[in-house]
Amino acid sequence: MIDLATKYMGLVLKNPIIVSSSSLTHSAEGVKRCADAGASAVVLKSLFEEQINADVKALADSSVSSYHSEEWDYIQRMGLDMNADEYLKIIEESKKVTDIPVIASLNCISSDLWTDFAKYIEAAGADALELNIAVMPRQFDEDPDKIEQHIYNIISNVKKNISIPVAAKLGPYFTSMPRVAKGARKAGASALVLFNRFYQTDIDIKELSHTSKNKYSTPAEMSNTLRWISLLYQQIGCSLVGNTGIHDGEAVIKQLLVGARAVEICSTLFVNGMGQIQVMLDDIQKWMQDKGYETVDDFRGKMSFKNSKKPDYFERQQYIKAIVGID
Ligand SMILES: Cc1cc2nc3c(=O)[nH]c(=O)nc-3n(C[C@H](O)[C@H](O)[C@H](O)COP(=O)(O)O)c2cc1C
Repeated sequence: MIDLATKYMGLVLKNPIIVSSSSLTHSAEGVKRCADAGASAVVLKSLFEEQINADVKALADSSVSSYHSEEWDYIQRMGLDMNADEYLKIIEESKKVTDIPVIASLNCISSDLWTDFAKYIEAAGADALELNIAVMPRQFDEDPDKIEQHIYNIISNVKKNISIPVAAKLGPYFTSMPRVAKGARKAGASALVLFNRFYQTDIDIKELSHTSKNKYSTPAEMSNTLRWISLLYQQIGCSLVGNTGIHDGEAVIKQLLVGARAVEICSTLFVNGMGQIQVMLDDIQKWMQDKGYETVDDFRGKMSFKNSKKPDYFERQQYIKAIVGID
């Protein structure tokens, strides 16, 4: 009897497939569709700090010509109030229509906006909270230590007010991923979602306008996640979740083999439809049967850096071997 259950940040999931934050999870109806298709949990569409800031800036610009930082704080909170009720309602309704864990999601730039709001998210019934931390350093003289500290402050400020688990969804661009992973854990993250996929910017040379491209990921984008989950597995004391480029059952198996607790997916569902969840689950089950595994824990982490017989496959050495043409 094959059992696909996995534990993630203390939540018991019936299988490792979570639908990631996206328009698929923007409403209770969307959440129900994911649950009916076999997902073990959902991450709701994020409430975006950037959107709130854009809304309040438009509001402020139309009424006053300049404002002080305290005024900005005040109108930013007004913007949050304008968007918050609807978000809390989605959490409450999602909990009514499904019995799978519902993970709320906040897009965070500043370290204090969400401190109080996180409490309402918990009270609305969310099982956990994922922080989509989208700090984009643009200043030439910004101290890297301070940038990292800012990320940790976001996590600890939110975590200190709530008891539900908090996951940090991070991008892949840091000088030292192990250091940031450890710092996020110390700040209170129970899990790391690796990695966030950033908006793909582009330029239309005919129209001379800014555009975006490749809204959806491709399977070729998964290897960075595979590398870092493998390297961090059992090193930092928190759950790791694979995200970006996971499109089929084989990809999920690989993520579990390097040590992931679960995966988050959305592009493959936009491209192949919600039925893809069941296809992936069937493929995982069949592979487990062929290999003689009964539970996910029977093989989780088997191919991680720590447990692998060839750990250098996840390091630069293989790249050097490949480019100089030696085996
Ligand atoms: C249409 C769309 C909307 C998204 N909205 C959000 C969002 O609100 N918050 C967030 O953290 N990620 C958002 N994402 C990113 C996904 O959650 C995910 O991290 C990314 O697409 C990589 O996973 P994938 O390869 O399975 O697509 C969105 C992605 C797509 C395609």
